[in-house]
Amino acid sequence: MARTPLLAGNWKMHGTVAATRKLIAELRKAVDGVSGRDVAVAPPFSALPAAAEALAGSSIILAAQNVHGEPKGAFTGEISAEMLVEVGCRAAIIGHSERRQLFGETDAGVNQRTKAALAAGLLPIVCVGETLAEREADETLAFVKRQVEGALLHFDAAAIRRVCIAYEPVWAIGTGRTATPAQAEEVHAAIRAVVASCADRPTADSVRILYGGSVKPDNVDDLMREPDIDGALVGGASLDAASFARIVEFRS
Ligand code: PGA
Repeated sequence: MARTPLLAGNWKMHGTVAATRKLIAELRKAVDGVSGRDVAVAPPFSALPAAAEALAGSSIILAAQNVHGEPKGAFTGEISAEMLVEVGCRAAIIGHSERRQLFGETDAGVNQRTKAALAAGLLPIVCVGETLAEREADETLAFVKRQVEGALLHFDAAAIRRVCIAYEPVWAIGTGRTATPAQAEEVHAAIRAVVASCADRPTADSVRILYGGSVKPDNVDDLMREPDIDGALVGGASLDAASFARIVEFRS
């Protein structure tokens, strides 16, 4: 089954309003009009309205870097799916390893957040991935399986079909140390098998699984050649329009 590749830029805590306008203008010059692939950018919350304005008329998808599981309430520092939709978001990154490691997010929370995103019509980009210690202990597949099952708990196949998963080995994020295409493919194929067991094979074949962790212009082509790698979640290299454009224009 053909899956449209998705190349998503996670800007993390980078991007004032002015910098966001500038980067989006540069990016649009380079990638507006590319076909056969979806492109998304996830600026910080404060820059989302400006980003939506700068993206008017573009097919680039505006994404948030997180979303809370509840529609409203006493959750200081959090933001709801409805609030994100209101400012023009169509997707949300959920359960990024930095959220899990630095801010204590759990699989149960990721499940709630994903549910809320789906209910609001946002595309959830659910992140999973093992630490170096888990990889060295040969626990990668079991660990990632638990994260995927946790994220998708109680979802039916129709819901799972609307989810995107990002495999991001923690040891590869921001380190310049990418998983080899073979290492990534092994985990992507395993994730697809887990999705099939949570739903069914056609659903698993339709779900996009992105790779993330030091994706750069010079390694994206090899990664995208792997059959179960359907795109990339890009941190550092998404902050430079030329680099991200080259990633969007991967050749496989
Ligand atoms: P990186 O970040 O590309 O800078 O490694 C990826 C991510 O954290 O999504």
